[in-house]
Amino acid sequence: MLLLKGKTIIITGSGRGIGKSVAIACAKEGANVGLTARTLDELNEVKDEIINLGIGVRVSVKTADVTKYEEIEDAFKIFHEDLGEFNGVIANAGYSRMWNSHEFDSNKFSEIMSINVSGVFFAFKAAYHYLKKDDKNNKSRFITTGSAAFTNPMPKLAAYTASKYAVVGLQNALALEYKKENITFNMVLPTQVDTRMLRGSKAGDGNKPPSVMNPQELNDYYLFLLSNNANKTDNALIFTNDFNEVRNLISKAPLVKRENWEVFKPYLEEIAPKIYSNVKKLGRLVEFLINSTE
Ligand SMILES: NC(=O)c1ccc[n+]([C@@H]2O[C@H](COP(=O)([O-])OP(=O)(O)OC[C@H]3O[C@@H](n4cnc5c(N)ncnc54)[C@H](OP(=O)(O)O)[C@@H]3O)[C@@H](O)[C@H]2O)c1
Repeated sequence: MLLLKGKTIIITGSGRGIGKSVAIACAKEGANVGLTARTLDELNEVKDEIINLGIGVRVSVKTADVTKYEEIEDAFKIFHEDLGEFNGVIANAGYSRMWNSHEFDSNKFSEIMSINVSGVFFAFKAAYHYLKKDDKNNKSRFITTGSAAFTNPMPKLAAYTASKYAVVGLQNALALEYKKENITFNMVLPTQVDTRMLRGSKAGDGNKPPSVMNPQELNDYYLFLLSNNANKTDNALIFTNDFNEVRNLISKAPLVKRENWEVFKPYLEEIAPKIYSNVKKLGRLVEFLINSTE
């Protein structure tokens, strides 16, 4: 049984990088997807890739700039007409520039805040009326792509760091405000990923440093959050570094220690106490990773 069969998932920034990878992963799991970014050619390539999988899911494409509310509103209206009520929205579009802060172009600072913070808020605001809210056993998911820059600020990335701290605050507030409306709010916080944002035109050239992840390595975190397994997961921050390490430990664990979270839990606590303490609240995700590990 496909994990997201018949669900409708909308993904911003899905023309390339992480958003593209997640969009394809959702479609492979049977979801109908709404794709948006500013570059039509890239969106159409993703659409073609999904259609060519032959799964029979529906794909709707509409360009929009996430900093312009009317454009996002228009795109989401079209997605609703094409695909019906939304089960999940992934606010993933993002942008970054690295430079000395005292010389940083002031307009660039505003642009980064606008894309990375207002863009997430606008995506929620535009999606709200289209999100399914009538079933507590099948809640709507609003997922943000954050960054490990939250808790690990980096020099020359002040604007980006500020924006990724801001979206955590935004999530905290939205999760409280909509607690009774069957919408959950969760975030995936990657470290370095082999995309144009990090490696420019070298993205995907096969020469990434080993510490840099492939976008596809993030898919399971989004799939978990969108799946029924995460119906009760709310206001979680998924730091991908910790869970990648958990994955690594799962693959090396003796079979009897990785049957499920209950047996893996004491084993993990013993061999990696710090990682255990970082991930223990997200046992359902660890269980999901156990089940997806060969
Ligand atoms: N790569 C990393 O190392 C890394 C690490 C941590 C977190 N992240 C986060 O991951 C998310 C995705 O980034 P990525 O690494 O996949 O970068 P990417 O390959 O550059 O993709 C960014 C996507 O966002 C879209 N986008 C940018 N500005 C937009 C705007 N104003 N309106 C609408 N769409 C816009 C881009 O399309 P158009 O340009 O066509 O609009 C593109 O589809 C971002 O939120 C980023 O902060 C990335």
